[in-house]
Formats: sequence, C-alpha cells, structure tokens
Amino acid sequence: MSRKLEITIQEDGPYRIRNARSARFGDEELNTEDDIWLCRCGETASPPFCDGTHRKVGFSGACESSRDRPIKTWEGKRIRTRFNPNACMHVFACKPLKALRRQEREGDGAAADAIAEVVRACPSGALSYEWVEAQTVEPEADGEVDVLVMEGGEIRVQCAFDINEPLQELQRPGRATLCRCGRSSNKPWCDGQHKKRDGFR
Ligand code: SF4
Ligand code: FES
Repeated sequence: MSRKLEITIQEDGPYRIRNARSARFGDEELNTEDDIWLCRCGETASPPFCDGTHRKVGFSGACESSRDRPIKTWEGKRIRTRFNPNACMHVFACKPLKALRRQEREGDGAAADAIAEVVRACPSGALSYEWVEAQTVEPEADGEVDVLVMEGGEIRVQCAFDINEPLQELQRPGRATLCRCGRSSNKPWCDGQHKKRDGFR
C-alpha cells in the first residue's frame, strides 16, 4: 500500500520530500526511492536539490505575510466557488472564470462544469468549489506526478499530502505550491516572486 506524501519543512533550510510515487524537475524524472531534499533558499548550485548553501547565505524561512486577506465567495446557480488570496501564487490560470461565471449566471448549464475544471486546475489550491444543491466536493484527482518542480518556478504538489505547516483556510488538500526561490513573502507557499528573479532555474 502506498503511503501518503510527506513534506517536512526544515527551519531556514530545504524541504524533505518522502513517499512521493513520482517527481519531476521540468522534464527530468527524479529518483523517489530515497528522500528528496529540495532547495527552498533559491541559491543552490545544483537545482532543484539542496546543496547546503542556505547556511552560507543565512537564509530565513520566516513568513512575512499577515495572511489576513478575506476569503471571497462567488455564488452561481449550480456552483459556488471560494478564493483564498492568502494561498494564491498569481499565475492567473483562473482568468477564464470571469466570463464563465457570467455565462453560468445567465443560465448556461455547461459553464458550471467548465468553472469546476478551471478550479481543479488551480495549482495552489487557493480556489475551491462546491455544487450548490449537492453541497459536496468531488475528491481531488491526483496530478500526473505527485511533485512537479517547475524550472524557474515553484514546487507543485499534486496529491494528498501531510506537511508540518497549517494549510490556509479552504486550501484544497491535494494541491499546494511551495516557494523554492527563497523570495516569497508567504513562505512556505509560493506567491509568484520567482517571476522577478532573472536567471533563476
Ligand atoms: S493560484 Fe489559483 S487562484 Fe491564484 S492565480 Fe493561479 S489559478 Fe488563480
Ligand atoms: S535550501 Fe539548502 S541550498 Fe537552498
């Protein structure tokens, strides 16, 4: 029986990833037989792995964000969505929602299914949804790999996991995006700061 993915954040140091069934760095498969130590200071010379540089650069894993931005709820006819800005990493994969919500409110039944699909594609888990009548949420399907390390970007967790950090309110349990550039104000979660780092791999 496969065990649940376990993410352990080391204080001012890397992430230890245990029990991943699959992991990738860009197109490169990562060995998951042993623990994987992923850099989160953004300064390693061997990305995506930790090489101990965090100690030399005095990396701080502290979170500077207040995380008190309010949750927004959108009420449709068939579907309700919620957005927690404190977990969002700002890649804007949710852009189609505006038009879809308008269509859904105008009575386009298929738009609700399209909204659910967009929410499920949100990598950070900042978006969640429920069906208005059923009041249930479908179980989260796993992604094609458990841990996807984006080249020049965040770590995407795409299956159920345990982590030594409280999840944000309503953050979907099978999705998270973790900072690996060391610049997020919302550590350990990614807030999109890597986009401002030239040459970050
Ligand atoms: S993380 Fe989710 S909510 Fe935030 S911009 Fe991306 S898709 Fe939208
Ligand atoms: S966290 Fe160890 S080198 Fe970046």
